[in-house]
Amino acid sequence: MNPHESNHEPLLEIKNLKKYFEIKGGGALGRKKQTLKAVDDVSFEIYKGETLGLVGESGCGKSTLGRNILRLQDPTSGEVVYDQKNILDYTKKEMRALRKDMQIIYQDPFGSLNPRFTIGQIIGEMYEIHGIARGKEKEKKVKELLELVGLDPQRYHSYPHEFSGGQRQRVGIARALALQPEFIVADEPVSALDVSVQSQVINLLIELKKEMGLTLLFIAHGLNVVRHISDRVGVMYLGKLVELSDTDSIFNEPAHPYTAALLSTVPEADPEARKERIVLKGEVPSPASPPSGCNFRTRCPLATERCSQEAPAWQETRNGHFTACHYPLEKGQTLKDAIKQRKEQPEKNTNNLIMA
Ligand SMILES: Nc1ncnc2c1ncn2[C@@H]1O[C@H](COP(=O)(O)OP(=O)(O)OP(=O)(O)O)[C@@H](O)[C@H]1O
Ligand SMILES: [Mg+2]
Repeated sequence: MNPHESNHEPLLEIKNLKKYFEIKGGGALGRKKQTLKAVDDVSFEIYKGETLGLVGESGCGKSTLGRNILRLQDPTSGEVVYDQKNILDYTKKEMRALRKDMQIIYQDPFGSLNPRFTIGQIIGEMYEIHGIARGKEKEKKVKELLELVGLDPQRYHSYPHEFSGGQRQRVGIARALALQPEFIVADEPVSALDVSVQSQVINLLIELKKEMGLTLLFIAHGLNVVRHISDRVGVMYLGKLVELSDTDSIFNEPAHPYTAALLSTVPEADPEARKERIVLKGEVPSPASPPSGCNFRTRCPLATERCSQEAPAWQETRNGHFTACHYPLEKGQTLKDAIKQRKEQPEKNTNNLIMA
């Protein structure tokens, strides 16, 4: 699928989305209120029928972004446009109707399933809440769903603890699919599973997506997890989206130094590629006190004075390739090369932005 085809319409447009939390912790006694910028001015589109992978280190705001898009939490500001309407303006009633179209699959397949209910009740509840089916009709629908996700329909009366981790995640997927949604946020759906089971669940999602024409936002920690399933990949760092492009372009010609550094640590069969491994210095700063200018500049091997003064704009630096960086890598340029160049010519702040 090519997301840049002209007939490809965005299903969702996320515009300048922010989610700030007021937390205690500042000041000498730790009593002063601080603002934690969990999601800070994020804009992107999700195309109909695509799988958009979203990666980034723990705490960078992936789950918060997913939850705010679905309005499971109310954003501080911004817009989420669906069907040409900003759903952040929706009333409770309008939101309830929309819930059918938008679902979530959680990371923890145990914690997200109530242990006191059978899976028949857990999945069947979706039909009852929305007044779609009850009794035998409900049971028939749930059993069909169980079959669809590769579970034995005879397990209708079993409890969550009677299933393996991978099977429980299939229950979570069945529940998300019950109302035939258009859009699903899968928030680290395989992170809690054994590696051997991860690919089975990912393959199931790929199949279901094709069969049901779903649009997916697939959240994961690492780039290697999203590669197989994603049409495009977005990379987050400290509340911001730093890069977004089609999967091949992200993996073969990353533009943001953070993405390039992350990629250099993905296990590669190619020993040449391993030699290029770049370890980022320091820790991720707190989203309650992010650095001035560019959020990544305290760890960026290419950062200059400009990066501490001016936050880089989010812009299309190549065709369909979005980056927020003052010095994005050129096509074919490696981060190692760029670092070498920077050392040789520290004064020359080569700005590779392709100006439109
Ligand atoms: N309800 C809340 N109140 C205060 N801070 C919060 C709240 N929810 C999230 N945060 C903070 O927002 C930031 C982003 O959290 P989030 O859970 O979105 O990260 P994540 O990228 O999903 O991390 P992980 O990979 O560990 O799941 C973190 O610093 C987190 O502590
Ligand atoms: Mg998370």
